[in-house]
Amino acid sequence: MSWRDLPKVELHLHLEGGAPPAFIRGMAQEKRVDISGIFDERGGYRTGTFAHFLKVYEAACTVLTSPEDYRRLTLAVLEESAANGVVYSETFLCPDFCGDGDVAAWRDYLLAIEDAAREAEAKAGITLRGIVTCVRHFGPEKAKAAALCAAETAGNFVTGFGMAGAETVGRPKDYAWAFDCAREAGLRLTCHAGEWGGPDMVADTLRDLNPARIGHGIAAAKDPALMERIAEAGIVLEVCPGSNVYLGAVPSWEKHPIETLRSREVKVTVSTDDPPFFGTTLTREWEMLERVFEWNEEDLKALNRVALDAAFCDEATKDRIR
Ligand code: ADE
Ligand code: ZN
Repeated sequence: MSWRDLPKVELHLHLEGGAPPAFIRGMAQEKRVDISGIFDERGGYRTGTFAHFLKVYEAACTVLTSPEDYRRLTLAVLEESAANGVVYSETFLCPDFCGDGDVAAWRDYLLAIEDAAREAEAKAGITLRGIVTCVRHFGPEKAKAAALCAAETAGNFVTGFGMAGAETVGRPKDYAWAFDCAREAGLRLTCHAGEWGGPDMVADTLRDLNPARIGHGIAAAKDPALMERIAEAGIVLEVCPGSNVYLGAVPSWEKHPIETLRSREVKVTVSTDDPPFFGTTLTREWEMLERVFEWNEEDLKALNRVALDAAFCDEATKDRIR
C-alpha cells in the first residue's frame, strides 16, 4: 500500500474556489454574461497577485446566482475532491455570495448545497461539512450578517464559522462581534491570518477572536515564541502550501515554512484552498510534501490524523471516517 491509497481529509477549501473553470465558463454562457477576461488562452483562470486573484474569484462568483447553481457547483467540486481520494471535506460557504447575507435566501442556498452533499456522499463516498465564512474586505457589518446566517443554521452540517479575505483590511478585533455570535451559537471557529500578515496578525487573531484553527498561519514560523504558544495551546494550522507558492506568499515549495512549523510541534494540516485557481489538487500537495520534504507514508498518515482530530464535525462522523 502507498500513501496514494489513503483516504484524505481536507479542512480548508473555498467552495467557489473549487469551481472548475469549465464549470464557470459554462454558467457564464448559459446566462449570457461576459466574464471572458478572467480566463487565459488555455481556458484556465487568469490570476496573478493576491489582489488580482480576489477580483477574478469575485468575478467568477457573479455567474452563481441561484441555489440551483450552488447545487451544481457543489456536485462539481465534490466530484473533483473525491477523484483525489478526499473522503471528508470542510468547505467555506459564504453568505455574501449566497443571497447577499439575507438569512432567508441563505437557507435556500444551504438546502441546495446539502442536497448536493447527500448526493455526492451516496455516489462518491465523500462527506461535506460547511464552515460559514465572512469576507474581511467586505467589512465588519457584512461579517455580522454572515455570522447571523451561521448562527441561524448551526447544526450537524454547518459546524463552523470563519473569515477569509484580505488581511490588509481592519484588525481582527473589528470582527469580534461576528466571532462571538458564532461561538455563542455553538460553532467552532477558524480565521485566515498570517497568510499575508505578519506574526502580529496571527497573535492578534488568537487574542481577539480565539479560534481553534488558523487558516494558513505561516507567518507564525517567523516567531519562535509564537510557535511555542500555538503548539502549547493546540491551535491547528490549515496550511495550503501550493496556494502560498502560487500566489507568492512564499518564494518556493523548498522555502515553505511547513517543516519549521512541524519541527516546533505546531499542529499542521494541508489543504488546497482554491485548487483550480492554483493548479493544484490534494494529491499534488501530498506529492510535493513527499518530493520536497521527503515525507513518507507515516508522515502523511499522521498529517491526516491531525486533520480529522481537528475537524469540526461530531465524533460519530469522525468515527465513521476513521
Ligand atoms: N478567499 C479565497 N481564497 C483565499 C485566500 N487564499 N486567502 C484569503 N481569502 C481567500
Ligand atoms: Zn483560504
